[in-house]
Amino acid sequence: MTGAVSGAPDPLALAASWLPATWSGVTPTMTLATIGLDGYPSARTVLLSAFDGQRLHFHTDTRSRKAAELAAVPRASVTIHWPDVARQLTVTGDVAPVTDREARIAYDARSRYLQVLAWLNDTDLAVAPEADRRVRWAAFEREHGDAPLSPPPTWGGFALTPLRMLFWTGAADGPSNRLAYERDACGVWRSEVWPG
Ligand SMILES: Cc1cc2nc3c(=O)[nH]c(=O)nc-3n(C[C@H](O)[C@H](O)[C@H](O)COP(=O)(O)O)c2cc1C
Repeated sequence: MTGAVSGAPDPLALAASWLPATWSGVTPTMTLATIGLDGYPSARTVLLSAFDGQRLHFHTDTRSRKAAELAAVPRASVTIHWPDVARQLTVTGDVAPVTDREARIAYDARSRYLQVLAWLNDTDLAVAPEADRRVRWAAFEREHGDAPLSPPPTWGGFALTPLRMLFWTGAADGPSNRLAYERDACGVWRSEVWPG
């Protein structure tokens, strides 16, 4: 059920044309699937922090489940869906931690709310009664005012280098299909058209 395709665009350039041109403000959300420590898939939503032309960056707490899973098996798959334009992009590949500089740039680009959340979002706060949670949040904001925040020591990021890329295109009044790419051991991309 596949069809060879000639003259397909470079998948990284195609991804760049689907993704935002700038990375401040609102960025796409994506479903990030990792391999759980028990071998079952493990999925959650994260923000795509950036696409640098080669790799997709995302950021998280280094104490998180996903960080432990990626330390054990540094492979992941992400799916981004744009319902308004009937597109879906799935990227699967190898994951490595980003540099401290890349992590800092991503932290600085996050909203103030997400910067505060990165400081406070631990198990201790999660299990506290709701009123206490809000008191602690307000106390943090009072203490720091409008001063710029640095990332907490637990802030970290990862970058996914694509091995496979799947571009799904739909239409309200016609068939969908997918442009599927896989990079071979020499780094050359092969492509096929798949049904949607
Ligand atoms: C819209 C949305 C965006 C999110 N963005 C992030 C993110 O960028 N990084 C992150 O660590 N968690 C993000 N989360 C929370 C994760 O979905 C998840 O609950 C958390 O990271 C813990 O996941 P884990 O236990 O699988 O590591 C987001 C959740 C939602 C609903």
